Amino acid sequence: MTKKATFQLEFENHVKEGLTAFPKYLSSKYIYDERGDELFQQIMALPEYYLTQAEYNIMNQHKSELRELFSAQGAFDLIELGAGDGKKTKVLLKELAENKVNFTYIPVDISQHAIDDLSNSLTELLPHLEVKGEQGTYFKVLERLATYNTRPKVIIVLGSNIGNLQHPQAIDFLKKLKEVMSCEDFLFMGFDQKKDPLTIQNAYADSQGVTQEFNRNLLHRINKEMDANFPVEQFEHWESYDPETGTAKSYLIATEPCEVILKKLDITASFKKWETIHCEISQKYDDDIVEWLAKESGLEIANIFEDEDKMFKDYVFEIKKIPS
Ligand code: AVI
Repeated sequence: MTKKATFQLEFENHVKEGLTAFPKYLSSKYIYDERGDELFQQIMALPEYYLTQAEYNIMNQHKSELRELFSAQGAFDLIELGAGDGKKTKVLLKELAENKVNFTYIPVDISQHAIDDLSNSLTELLPHLEVKGEQGTYFKVLERLATYNTRPKVIIVLGSNIGNLQHPQAIDFLKKLKEVMSCEDFLFMGFDQKKDPLTIQNAYADSQGVTQEFNRNLLHRINKEMDANFPVEQFEHWESYDPETGTAKSYLIATEPCEVILKKLDITASFKKWETIHCEISQKYDDDIVEWLAKESGLEIANIFEDEDKMFKDYVFEIKKIPS
């Protein structure tokens, strides 16, 4: 079976499970087709969505410290998981390249298209940079790299993508990263921070309704790919941030009762008025939570970088040293 067919089957099974459960749920990981990617780009440019600018500021403000830290042991591979358009990473790449640091940039993405676009834009910006794009799922690529790679690695995961995972899944993710790391390697990862709840609420309930369209893309995809008839406009987006747990939750809510027929899956999903579909969590963190996640995963925090407005942090992790 091709990778695409496997992913499609996984998506169909997920929809079947999620829409026959109570309460109903769907995973935000299936938002990202071409339209979903485009809507996420629009979200990142929204004035309310502070995360992107805050992390960009961290990269810009701390680029020379990052260069010193990453290049301290000589030549290395900089492996970025989920590289996207690389806007934030380019700040670091430029800093490293201009200071003649010996490194190879390895962007990893599920989409070959995203890798090609990024590689082409980098050829223009930094013609001497060595770029080796790797298409595939994060762990397949990392396992492959770990087997033949002898140089130290810096693995970077930006954008607080880990926040879309529940804590146990996040620990699983970190543990898997740890498994492919050696003692000299670093993991550099973004974690959005707890802050004024209204700032977080507004970031996910933007005034232009882009986040609503982003979530609704799940329903559009199901209509298109599973021959379904969701009345998409009748589903409204609702965001709820809980400052106690630090979890922002996204829902789509049926504003009218409806029967949705999913022909390809041979199921019907009935919605009462105001019934919800839980679509996404965006977890917010503080140092204690990140420290706990690291400990549970066998990692330790080596360094923390924060933006001046104290919105976002990037943590540097290394493998926990066993005391001798
Ligand atoms: C990709 N991820 C980190 C985004 C977030 O902030 O949770 C996805 C997103 N959902 C709504 N807006 C942005």
